[in-house]
Amino acid sequence: MGLVEAAGFSKASWGASGQAAEESRRYCGALEEGEILFFRQTPFPIPEAHKRFLLNVRQPNTAHHKNISYKPGRNRVLGFARGTADEATLVGIMHDYSQAVCNFVNALLLPYAGNWQLDYASFRPIEEEGRDLPVSKRNDLLHVDSFPTRPSNGNRILRVFTNLNPAESRIWLTSEPFQVWAERYGDSAGLPQIAAHSRSPAHQMLRRAVRLGQALGVPLTDRPPYDEFMLRFHHFMKNNSSFQKDCPKSRWEFPPGATWLVFTDMVPHAVLSGRFALEQTFFVSRNALLSPEKAPYRVLERLAGAPLTG
Ligand SMILES: [Fe+2]
Repeated sequence: MGLVEAAGFSKASWGASGQAAEESRRYCGALEEGEILFFRQTPFPIPEAHKRFLLNVRQPNTAHHKNISYKPGRNRVLGFARGTADEATLVGIMHDYSQAVCNFVNALLLPYAGNWQLDYASFRPIEEEGRDLPVSKRNDLLHVDSFPTRPSNGNRILRVFTNLNPAESRIWLTSEPFQVWAERYGDSAGLPQIAAHSRSPAHQMLRRAVRLGQALGVPLTDRPPYDEFMLRFHHFMKNNSSFQKDCPKSRWEFPPGATWLVFTDMVPHAVLSGRFALEQTFFVSRNALLSPEKAPYRVLERLAGAPLTG
């Protein structure tokens, strides 16, 4: 597992190139293997004035404001300390950034084009080194991503990061891909119990009731067994000190202006230092994958011997 540098991509030349489809499949294949797709320079436009604005945002270092998040569907920001910058300007900048990343992903990853659901974007202005956060929110512990409020039902979490910091690299650690750790720790993290519970009539009735409530507009979250496990595994990894200490690690320095893409539900990752990163999340449809057998939901279904999505 490592890093694949996408050196030649520029939207103008890419569209005209007959090799685009082939290269694009190579990039998707690398991502699905658990590689990081790396661009030394930001491959989509961010106006200089927007960068200047973002680099001047100051955010209190508290657990309440872990990041500034942007919800594209509602065109609003959350976690923003009011009064520290003009909110309407920030919303406009995040909107433009989110659009630019969507266009970029659709052009770069042709097999996924249109086969994703847009999730939140975020701006991370706080220095990551030495942050005082509860264990489950710590970014400096290796983990795979799972979102408590947005179950994916086996669709993939693809994240696009850009280091806006003009002077300092963003430092990451990664480890071996999900399958290795699911095989090693799946049982101790509760996979057999979750699989068995998912088959119980009581559990199925509860999920039907939740879905009925959702249809009636009640704000409930239906969490398929897959997401139940992934959320548990996210916490399990962060709390497992021998895994944190002993697992094989790769260290990455993402320089100023770099952009990188990774399936963070598959690649254990931790950020050690850096501030001023932009990030956009996508849920890529599991039906669009080139190698679905490598996807975490398929790995878990094989291990559990039972369906976990749906
Ligand atoms: Fe993460």
